Amino acid sequence: MAIQWFPGHMTRARRQIQEKLKLIDIVIELLDARVPLSSRNPMIDEILQDKPRIIVLNKADLADPQVTEQWVNYFAEEGVSAFPIDASSGHKVGDILPKAKFTLADKIQRQINKGINPRAIRALIVGIPNVGKSTLINKMAGKNIAVTGDKPGVTKGQQWIKVGTEMELLDTPGILWPKFEDQQVGYRLAVVGSIKEEIIHLDDIAFYAIRYMAKYYLNNLQERFGIEYVPEDLENPNEVVKIMEEIGRKRGCIVSGGRVDLDKTSILFLRELRAGKLGRISFERPADQGAF
Ligand code: G4P
Repeated sequence: MAIQWFPGHMTRARRQIQEKLKLIDIVIELLDARVPLSSRNPMIDEILQDKPRIIVLNKADLADPQVTEQWVNYFAEEGVSAFPIDASSGHKVGDILPKAKFTLADKIQRQINKGINPRAIRALIVGIPNVGKSTLINKMAGKNIAVTGDKPGVTKGQQWIKVGTEMELLDTPGILWPKFEDQQVGYRLAVVGSIKEEIIHLDDIAFYAIRYMAKYYLNNLQERFGIEYVPEDLENPNEVVKIMEEIGRKRGCIVSGGRVDLDKTSILFLRELRAGKLGRISFERPADQGAF
């Protein structure tokens, strides 16, 4: 989904979400489990204010489970309940309702004390483009719904989607912008396929991913591509390029003169990475904030 985020669009997106907050009890903030902070809107706290929320780490099927666990603890320390799901297969999507109920337990109890029968919890899914909002809405609804989302500037009537008897979801998720100004964030989002490749050159995206993998997941690179080269200094770009070249050679990405075609190598590498063929890889971990 290509959305041009100009300042006016950001203001409108923010206003549209804040309008919806009046209708709901809880926000489901959807992040990409492979890059939780990079897939987070930079103004999310300001936009949501004190509205109760849970964080759902989606695409956990593609993320490193150990690192995902670290993120769950990281957010718990921030006082927000976060947990992994896989919206496409539906794995753990059933955890959303109990987590929401737990987060709203005091409010629900107050209603019961007043003799009010608690109604279904009303929820809104928010997240940046491509994080899996439509997939999750469809999975929770149990059927295919044409989720359009709010195009900045376009409003349409709200529909409630029933999720069993205890939850209702707004059918238009809140679409938020990522933190563009940080270059690391741009690379990480590009690696997981959330930013269009015209913005950052393919070679650079693959270079970034291979460098990260050489640091944390060298085994996965070696096993998938049969490469043997072990870099000594990842600060030295030539060593990363050597790995790229070895991948290219192993896959026959050679141009005349025996030179490795780095464009072709990058396309092939990124396609396999995003399809999960290199294993479950996370590209961001709490410990390396700002360090990579
Ligand atoms: P959005 O509404 O937030 O923009 O995201 P959307 O649901 O359209 O999902 C974006 C892409 O992410 C889709 O892939 C979708 O299948 C994929 N996706 C969503 N949730 C998960 C998940 O938990 N695991 C994995 N592995 N993928 C997920 P696509 O390539 O754009 O489309 P398609 O392959 O489904 O045709």
